[in-house]
Amino acid sequence: MTNNSKVQGLSELKRILIIGSGGRENAIAWALSKNKSIEQIYVCPGNGGTSNFQKCICLKTKDEETIISECQKLKINLVIIGPEIPLAEGLANKMREAGITVFGPCKEGAQLEASKDWAKTLMIENNIPTAKYWTTHSKEEALGILDRFKQPLVIKADGLAAGKGVTVCETIEQSRNAIQEVFSGKFGSAGNKVILEERIEGPEVSIFALCDGEKLIVLPPAQDHKRLLEGDEGPNTGGMGAYAPAPLVNQKDLQELTELILIPTLEGLKKKKIKYIGVIYAGLMLTASGPKVIEFNCRFGDPECQALMPLMGEEFASVLFSCAQGDLGKAPKLTFKDLCSACIVAAAKGYPEKPQKGDQIHITSESNSSIQLFHAGTTISQFDNIITSGGRVLSVVAQGENFDKAFELGYDTLKQINFDGMHFRKDIGYQVRNIST
Ligand code: AMP
Ligand code: GLY
Repeated sequence: MTNNSKVQGLSELKRILIIGSGGRENAIAWALSKNKSIEQIYVCPGNGGTSNFQKCICLKTKDEETIISECQKLKINLVIIGPEIPLAEGLANKMREAGITVFGPCKEGAQLEASKDWAKTLMIENNIPTAKYWTTHSKEEALGILDRFKQPLVIKADGLAAGKGVTVCETIEQSRNAIQEVFSGKFGSAGNKVILEERIEGPEVSIFALCDGEKLIVLPPAQDHKRLLEGDEGPNTGGMGAYAPAPLVNQKDLQELTELILIPTLEGLKKKKIKYIGVIYAGLMLTASGPKVIEFNCRFGDPECQALMPLMGEEFASVLFSCAQGDLGKAPKLTFKDLCSACIVAAAKGYPEKPQKGDQIHITSESNSSIQLFHAGTTISQFDNIITSGGRVLSVVAQGENFDKAFELGYDTLKQINFDGMHFRKDIGYQVRNIST
């Protein structure tokens, strides 16, 4: 992979396009809008909160060809691709071929997330610790392994399944049902191959690196809350809240995890001749026998990104631009604010199964330097009201000198937001807060 784009000085970064419509993209737009030298930020397609931030506007263009020609027309210096689907479909490849500077991996690199089998192979080839697994191509093969292993397994569709392709089974019977289900076509072609994985245990934490293809820099670790309900009960969701930096991993641990996991991953990609420009996100489980990777993503996590963005120093824009140009060396040192950041997601009635849409959102809170309101599933109606348009509607993010203060501020702010059926977990950050669970 080559990056055809002309190398530009950091002062030339004036116009940015962010692809995506979620809370993650809203938070990235907000963080970049703080950089004084940036003149305009387009978010395609964006959401009902995009234009709340100075210099940010929606670009309502859907097909790839038009987006690429808009980049040229609008003289975009940097494109940031937020979600995994356009990355896995090769949008970054097409943009680079057109000479556009892009932060986000090429299609080949996005396999890290788009195929669990591919990612597992890369981990094995590079001695990256992960759970024992089997890749299967038919129901019979999978059931045969289950019979021989005689323990409940974790069943994973190989491909992208919007966070729904993983079933963590308590019993052998459940594993058998999950195998039947995943091979029944429920996940389309994502379930053509199925990974059976040994079930491992331990607290989870996410680590992130910004890569320029050769080198990487590591961001503060974050903790996500995947389950819908308090006490980590109920179905898995995209994420109901997050916090950063996760104290479970201190600076020394993070250095060790970088050497054990992030650097070998980037080296493994390089061995495959993949110039990986973008985020490597490793979801880890800290087991009794050491940390193990449970998943890779090829992008920022959502809602981890919302918790992280307020911690970024102003250099963030320059660092992304340098990564995208394949030259992190010329970037200023990325600094992080010494604060605790808390993110709580307000979801629509029926989320994650069948979210209700079209409800008017009432917001009386004001953002300030310690509180941000990031929109996700929102849109602006023809009467100029903000209405719900997706499952995860808003993220409230707050910072404080400790997590108790950050979450108190976040939950107080949520009291000033309302829409029909709005729900959120009251125990986000229970690991770091003084609350009884
Ligand atoms: P994933 O979509 O791969 O992140 O998996 C969703 C969730 O399933 C993870 O956050 C874990 O809580 C759980 N999980 C995935 N793999 C395993 C495993 N091998 N053992 C135990 N839990 C797992
Ligand atoms: N919050 C988990 C993810 O973005 O995949």
